[in-house]
Amino acid sequence: MTKPKLLMTRVLSPAVIERARRDYDLDLNENDHIMSADELVARCQGKDAALITLTEKFTAEVIGRLPPSLRVIATYSVGFEHIDLAAAKARGIRVANTPDAVTIATAEIAMLLILGAARRAPEGERLLKDKKWGGWQPMQLIGRRLDGKRLGIMGLGKIGQAVAKRARAFDMEIHYYNRRRCSPTEEQGAIYHDTLDGLLAVSDVLSISAPSTPETRGSINAAALAKLPRGAIVVNTARGDLVNDDDLIAALKSGQVGYAGLDVYKGEPNIHPGYYELENVFLLPHMGTSVIEARDEMGFAALDNIDAVLAGREPPSPLV
Ligand code: DGY
Repeated sequence: MTKPKLLMTRVLSPAVIERARRDYDLDLNENDHIMSADELVARCQGKDAALITLTEKFTAEVIGRLPPSLRVIATYSVGFEHIDLAAAKARGIRVANTPDAVTIATAEIAMLLILGAARRAPEGERLLKDKKWGGWQPMQLIGRRLDGKRLGIMGLGKIGQAVAKRARAFDMEIHYYNRRRCSPTEEQGAIYHDTLDGLLAVSDVLSISAPSTPETRGSINAAALAKLPRGAIVVNTARGDLVNDDDLIAALKSGQVGYAGLDVYKGEPNIHPGYYELENVFLLPHMGTSVIEARDEMGFAALDNIDAVLAGREPPSPLV
C-alpha cells in the first residue's frame, strides 16, 4: 500500500523521524536548512501533509501557491503566528498545533528566567568566567527573594497556569490578565485583572505567556513598562514581538525595569543589539521547549494531527 506523502521541514528528534518514516513517504530536510518560500512551495508539490516549525513562514502568498494535494499543515509549536490561518482556511487546508506538549518545558524556562533574573545569575557566571571573582563578599550581587512578591502573568493559558503552579511553590502571589476570566480550577486562587494596566501595576515580576496576535504585538511598550512597580522583573517566554525592544532597553537602562529574562526575540535570530550591552539581562536562545521529552511529544502531537486529518477525523489540536 502506498503511504501518504509528508514533508518534514526541519530535522526533529530520532523517535519522531522514525515514526514519520514508518507511516509516511517522508521528504525530510536532511541538512536542516531554513527553506525559502520558493523551496517550501516546491517541496510541498505532491505532498499530502507538511510538518513544519516556527522557522517556516506560511504567508498568504505561500499558502496561495500550495498544491491541491496538501490537506494539512501541522506545526511543531504552540505558536502559530508564522501561518496565515485565514489563507489556509480559504484554501481548505487544515492547520493544527501542539499546545499540550510544550507546557511544562516552557513553564520551567520561565521559572529559570524568573529565578536567574531575581538572583542575578548571569552576572554571577560572568564574574567567574571573566576570572574577576575575589571571593565571598557580604554585598556582592545582591538580588531579590521571590517569596511574597507578586507575579503578574500576562496570559493564563496552559503555560501561564503551569508557571503559576511552580511560582506558588516559591510562595509568590499570583495575578493574571486575560481577555476572559479563567475558571476557579484554572485560577487556583490567582487574582484576575480585567485590564493589562491593572496587572502591570501590581507585577513585581511580569511573565509574558500570551500568544502573538494583532492585539498583543508591541503591547509591552514604554507606556506599559512605566506602569510596572519601579525595578520590576520582566520575563518573556512567549514571542518577542509582544515587546517593544527599544522601550524595554530604555527601561532597563533607567532602572524602571530592574532585570529582564528573555527566551524569545523579535526578528530571531537577529536580536536587538542593545541587549548585548546590558548587565541586567538574562538572555536565552529560544530554548523554552528544548528538552527531549517535549521534542518527542511535540513531534508525536504533530503526527497525531496529521494522522487524524488524513484519516478523515478531526485533529486533536485544530487551529483551522
Ligand atoms: C512554541 O511551541 O511555539 C515554541 O516557541 C517552540 O519552542
